[in-house]
Amino acid sequence: MDLNALKSNFEKIYKKPVEAVFFSPGRVNLIGEHTDYNGGYVFPCALSYGTYLLVSKNDDRVLRFASENLERRETVSIENISQPLSGDAWMNYPLGVMDQFKKQGVVMDQGVDLLYSGNIPNGAGLSSSASIELVTSVMINDIFGGNLEMMEMVKISQNAENQFVGVNCGIMDQFAVGMGKKDHALALKCDTMEWSTVPLKLDGYKIVISNTNKRRGLADSKYNERRSECEQALKELNKSGEYHSLSDIDFHTFNQIFERLSSDVLLRRARHVITENQRVLDAMRALKEGNIQEFGQLMNASHVSLRDDYEVTGPELDALAEEAWKADGVIGSRMTGAGFGGCTVSIVRENKTDDFIHQVGPAYEKRTGLKPQFYIADVGDGARRLM
Ligand code: GLA
Repeated sequence: MDLNALKSNFEKIYKKPVEAVFFSPGRVNLIGEHTDYNGGYVFPCALSYGTYLLVSKNDDRVLRFASENLERRETVSIENISQPLSGDAWMNYPLGVMDQFKKQGVVMDQGVDLLYSGNIPNGAGLSSSASIELVTSVMINDIFGGNLEMMEMVKISQNAENQFVGVNCGIMDQFAVGMGKKDHALALKCDTMEWSTVPLKLDGYKIVISNTNKRRGLADSKYNERRSECEQALKELNKSGEYHSLSDIDFHTFNQIFERLSSDVLLRRARHVITENQRVLDAMRALKEGNIQEFGQLMNASHVSLRDDYEVTGPELDALAEEAWKADGVIGSRMTGAGFGGCTVSIVRENKTDDFIHQVGPAYEKRTGLKPQFYIADVGDGARRLM
């Protein structure tokens, strides 16, 4: 990202200099999908792609929003931050965060002029929304003396998305973009919020992100549907409230009690969550032991489970994963994020990444009619002030 060009664009729009610049990354989840809202483990990492936010205070008691990626601009009085804007406004992500800070007693006593600019592909399931939330959080915290810890800002950002934007997401995305660490993956248990970093020892391999370029049309309604299916499965598996989440149940126990479930659909949803949780634990161990082959096999098994049991892949993600599995030098490949569209994540031998792109790209296009995009992931740090 060319920061000087960004700064001159800010000066062109607002006719004044930039006072501070913030950055927050996107994320890719290596394994542990649809486990976060079931109290389980996730294993994401932050990317070097993300959202930049340039800011300068104003004396007009207004928030001026502009973006290099989206055309719509707005001016909102600081007295009105608790009111969402109509018509799918992207500013509702930052406004939701500002509203949460207000609820925490952090007062924005002055207006700010804001320019957002992102290089995460939009709608690709790489957490562009969590990135906007966290970059806004670190900005308010810094400029308005919030004194909040990063973990509090992670939760505030999730609350903003749940309550203000109305998407019932779990904690993984905000956690990964807030707490990311260069060249490390983050191991998080989502019910206790215990976490640690694991070095990404990938000597000779690269993380390749492949974008289906299939927009996630029905994603949000299906996402909420999966959440309620999991809640229903938990209710039916519980005799006397012994399990707080599906992740409290191991596979051995599940095999003894699955007959309590009233339908095959609920059985498959629960089975995905319970087996996926175990796969994350196995994958963390494999990575620590340097057993990258096993890590890859667990990624493949994760995709199959998301396809057959959780049913969140769809023809495009399946085609992209299947073509990756056929390619030489691929250690593992799976969908990443919520599903239904968006991206896959693959571990590919470093000297085979060009072959991968040239083989998988045309094969995927032939099957789906869509042109995919490929990115070699660089694992970076979490949300922060740049200057
Ligand atoms: C989306 C949500 C996350 C998580 C994933 C699926 O990215 O925002 O909280 O549930 O889907 O693992």
